[in-house]
Amino acid sequence: MKRRETVAIGVGNQKGGVGKTTMTVQLSAALAERGRKVLIIDLDVNAGSTKHLGVDPNSFLGSFEVLTGEEHPLDVIVSSKDEGNNLPENLHIITGSRKLEELEERLRRKKSKFDDSSLGDVLKPVLEKLRGHYDYIFMDTPPSAPLPIIAAYKAADGFLLVAIPEGLAIEGLDEALNDIEEVREYGNPSLKLIGLAIGAVDKRTRLSKELVSYVHKHFSEFMLTPVIPRATVIPSVQTSQKTTIFQTDPQHPITEKFREMATSLEKNIHKILGIQKLDETKLHISETEDEFQNKERGDKDSMKEVLNG
Ligand SMILES: Nc1ncnc2c1ncn2[C@@H]1O[C@H](COP(=O)(O)OP(=O)(O)OP(=O)(O)O)[C@@H](O)[C@H]1O
Ligand SMILES: [Mg+2]
Repeated sequence: MKRRETVAIGVGNQKGGVGKTTMTVQLSAALAERGRKVLIIDLDVNAGSTKHLGVDPNSFLGSFEVLTGEEHPLDVIVSSKDEGNNLPENLHIITGSRKLEELEERLRRKKSKFDDSSLGDVLKPVLEKLRGHYDYIFMDTPPSAPLPIIAAYKAADGFLLVAIPEGLAIEGLDEALNDIEEVREYGNPSLKLIGLAIGAVDKRTRLSKELVSYVHKHFSEFMLTPVIPRATVIPSVQTSQKTTIFQTDPQHPITEKFREMATSLEKNIHKILGIQKLDETKLHISETEDEFQNKERGDKDSMKEVLNG
């Protein structure tokens, strides 16, 4: 297999129901569509990404077995070659499961008295075994299970923050930003914020305007464009537990927004981490500088539209 420079991306916002799984799955699918090799590690006991992608969490060994050292990560990867799923070609997953509830206790029990490493470092060696095989590894985190979240912060190269205009989203963003600052002091000095992705925006609502203007004001250089509008196709593809909108609705305007957001993320990764992926599809090779400028202008206009109602 060709060696690739892998970017490990933690996806977060500790609040629940703020779009972590949606962004993980759809951005991964957008990147896979353009030929990137993408792996999702589902660190959630509720197995959000796993179920969203139509993979049965009970049928495969997954992140629990990998984190406890029972399995090599390359041996538990689920891909389109495995039966009974509709995974896109370049998108693989290490499944989440209920067993993650016992992770902390299990790790504590099996720790040698000579091992003075922190439990939070449990993902680092796992990622080392996966580096070179993927362009991107996304880690979908749970809303409130400290150990998997800490492990993702400590192992990631970059962090992608997500929010949708729901009650505690802004508070969750602030907490996550503090955590990024803090983990730089404790074990992951090179962790970088690589993007802030906003979903489920309905420009008529006050909360949507507040969220977009907050992010625009404080973090405009990290904000991914465009923002993703609220659309019923998103919850319906998620609850159908089969696959992504890239398979069910490839021409839908929301699908196109995710493609553009994936481009924005790759630009940030280039700018912030200095890692640039070669364009592997004609779609993106054909983008001339003029087209690029027009797209940038269009993104800015669509943001102004939300802000100005
Ligand atoms: N653009 C959108 N339009 C409409 N609904 C959306 C959009 N983005 C996300 N949602 C919905 O918002 C809800 C929460 O999203 P999601 O499951 O991705 O959040 P989460 O942060 O992963 O949640 P949890 O913390 O429970 O894991 C879901 O029902 C999802 O379908
Ligand atoms: Mg989730």
